[in-house]
Amino acid sequence: MLIHRSAVEVVVHTPAKLNLFFEVLAKRDDGYHEIETLICPINLFDTVCFRAASNGRVDFQCVLSRGFGVSDNAEPGAIPEGCDNIAVRAVELLRRRAGLRAGARLRLVKRIPAAAGLGGGSSDAAAALSAANIGWKLDWPSEELARLAAELGSDVPFFLAKGAAICRGRGERIQPLQSMGELHFAVVRPPEGLATPAVYGQCLPAENAKSAAPLIAAFERGDVGKAGRLLFNRLEPAATRLSSWIARLRRIFRQSDCLGHGMSGSGSAYFGLCRHALHARRLARRLESLGVGCVFAVRSCS
Ligand code: C5P
Repeated sequence: MLIHRSAVEVVVHTPAKLNLFFEVLAKRDDGYHEIETLICPINLFDTVCFRAASNGRVDFQCVLSRGFGVSDNAEPGAIPEGCDNIAVRAVELLRRRAGLRAGARLRLVKRIPAAAGLGGGSSDAAAALSAANIGWKLDWPSEELARLAAELGSDVPFFLAKGAAICRGRGERIQPLQSMGELHFAVVRPPEGLATPAVYGQCLPAENAKSAAPLIAAFERGDVGKAGRLLFNRLEPAATRLSSWIARLRRIFRQSDCLGHGMSGSGSAYFGLCRHALHARRLARRLESLGVGCVFAVRSCS
């Protein structure tokens, strides 16, 4: 998350993420699933602009960047408007808990595709919390913001932390990881998005759970080739049943020369791990020529 502050405005550039490993350990009594996931932020950013106001309400404007790719409001990839948007809910939650009467103007520029498993909404919520904390001069410590973040969504606390992490519990317990090195990916968000609850609803928890430890060890050794072979997502079979795009993308990536490939989070975005930036750009160009949706060449960022 990159934060710029001036006297009148706080501007936050907040990243998308990829899940390089995703195990579903058990279904919990509260309806959530116990998971273990390795998450890596990537340099595809939404931007949140926050201005404090005295009118007592939160005005919201959302701008879709060119090529955002969603036109149908009924599709899971549509961006919720007004007070339904998670960035607005984040600001309203902080305002309520801080007992503030102030208002705000919030502007969101969307570049991260939605319903993709790329964490766009969660990232926006984390950015909105951070921006409002600064813009309203609240100075809440990060642990308290993290508690609010977990109320907003399982992935939101990850975006308040810095860099790659192993996330456990329902996703809100963060263990930062060092020494992942710089990673390069080609990412596709196909024309069809997937809704997270639907994918979890179709997923059977592991009988023999896999561990992220071998993948982390491979990254720590700098053995990206081995890491590519250890990418894993337990939600992928469920997503494959819900969208034919997942099997199609898996086939396409299998035939490409990337080091490994997999679905991010609950999908529908699919990615390939590449050897270097040029390899990622070349693969992205090839994927673009196949007309499989929005394509990005990205790298990991902290
Ligand atoms: O926490 P969040 O609002 O992102 O979760 C959306 C939905 O995804 C939940 O309502 C639940 O159906 C599912 N989920 C889950 N287990 C998790 C995270 C999310 O079942 N660990």
